[in-house]
Amino acid sequence: MTLEMRGICKSFGANDVLKQVDFSLKGGEICALLGENGAGKSTLMNILGGVLPADRGEILIDGTPVHFHTPADSLHAGVAFIHQELSLINDLAIYENMFIGRELKTKSGFLDAKTMIQKTQEVFDRLDLTLDPRAMVRDLDASYKQIVEISRAMMMQASLIIMDEPTTSLTDPEIERVFDMMRMLKKQNVAIIFISHKLKEVMEICDRYTVLRDGNMVASGPVSEVTTEDLARFMVGHDVRTENLRQSRELGKEILRGEHMEDGAHFHDISFSVRAGEVLGVTGLLGDGRSELFQAVFGAGPYQGNLWVEGKEVKVSSPSQAIKLGIGYVPRNRKENGIIKDLDIVENGSMVTLPKLTKGGFLDLARRDTEFEQQVQSLHIKMENKIDLITSLSGGNQQKVVLAKWLSAHPKVLILDNPTQGVDVGAKEEIYDIILRLACEGVAVVVLSSEAQEIIRVCDRALVMYHGAVQGEVSGADMNEQTIMHLATGGGVTANQTEE
Ligand SMILES: Nc1ncnc2c1ncn2[C@@H]1O[C@H](COP(=O)(O)OP(=O)(O)OP(=O)(O)O)[C@@H](O)[C@H]1O
Ligand SMILES: [Mg+2]
Repeated sequence: MTLEMRGICKSFGANDVLKQVDFSLKGGEICALLGENGAGKSTLMNILGGVLPADRGEILIDGTPVHFHTPADSLHAGVAFIHQELSLINDLAIYENMFIGRELKTKSGFLDAKTMIQKTQEVFDRLDLTLDPRAMVRDLDASYKQIVEISRAMMMQASLIIMDEPTTSLTDPEIERVFDMMRMLKKQNVAIIFISHKLKEVMEICDRYTVLRDGNMVASGPVSEVTTEDLARFMVGHDVRTENLRQSRELGKEILRGEHMEDGAHFHDISFSVRAGEVLGVTGLLGDGRSELFQAVFGAGPYQGNLWVEGKEVKVSSPSQAIKLGIGYVPRNRKENGIIKDLDIVENGSMVTLPKLTKGGFLDLARRDTEFEQQVQSLHIKMENKIDLITSLSGGNQQKVVLAKWLSAHPKVLILDNPTQGVDVGAKEEIYDIILRLACEGVAVVVLSSEAQEIIRVCDRALVMYHGAVQGEVSGADMNEQTIMHLATGGGVTANQTEE
């Protein structure tokens, strides 16, 4: 198949998001669609996927003009769309989700659950997945939901698959699995559009790239002819720094300490401490328990063991109590945990500070707006109007709003779980700067991340977890990708590593 999009224009009110964009693709090709947060990548794909109408321009498939008015139209033409925001239905089983809108029926007209389960199992087998098709989607971790979405697109036997940031919530082994699937599809002559902010992934899996900036297509070509630095420069319009950001800082008193932390399932006997002005990294692979551990610290999960905040022993039993103690927490999977979809941008961005902004039962709207405006400025949040729904923002900008809500609360310790999920190369650097600024201001920062590079570039030291326990601690020269990987996969601590 060949796809050609010509002269695509799209505006939202006064916001001209796409200005005469051309995009083309052939079967068996994997093309990266790149651009900063808000550049219009998802919008262009929504047009191709029949989700949004273009204002102008045409789409040709195999040389014939097509008109997609609904997602079903586009699917019918062989275009499957894996959305940036997950679209599975929590209250249904996996196999039911796999067949939504195309349910199989028996001869007598009943739902043919047996065949649907069997077909789902076949796809899972092909992908080497150990998932039960009858499991409820609600019970799946976000990364598995993503994998189910990808499996669904595969099952539809599409000739073109759009993957809008499919790997943001996946860990390395899962990403490799997705890449294997993509290579297999490529062999079967399927065309794939791959949107990602992770340029290393682009180099690994894509044949070509196309970059959008300010609504225009600014660069495109074969991936083999460029470096990640080139791609980053095309996206933001200038060089992007890549150096290590670790800085020596005066550390203050201990802000948070945990000892023998344990929840009987995800983490056991964990001890850690973080001081004012320190950036502590916590990393590991899927199932390492780091998220559950810090959810517990934030009062959003059970734990046994001891916790101290500024030397005072505390028992945290709810997030509101944690907030009062000065603990802030930016959850991972913004889509599921970080935003409230029915609220507007400023409401989402000021949720944590509401009690402070309320006097005598009245919300001080003017103050709320001023404080939020400051965050918008300092985080470079790209938006039209603060009273638009949060969902009208691009993915990366939503993430910044989630961050804004915690920054304005001025926590003593800020726990950030996967803080740069879905943010572009430039914004990533801005978030790193914010982390370092907070540390300089004396905040204790805990960064949870599966990206070794992220840990290495911003953290002073890091705990590497494996199956719910701390496998080792790294700092200084030991904080390199190799040592982290070694520990994260259950390897032992070598002699020159510092142990607590
Ligand atoms: N439904 C909508 N209503 C109003 N504005 C919208 C809507 N959808 C997108 N926009 C605006 O269009 C612009 C492009 O958004 P889009 O989601 O296409 O960006 P993106 O390139 O996918 O970014 P990201 O990398 O953050 O996902 C943004 O400024 C966004 O606020
Ligand atoms: Mg997007």
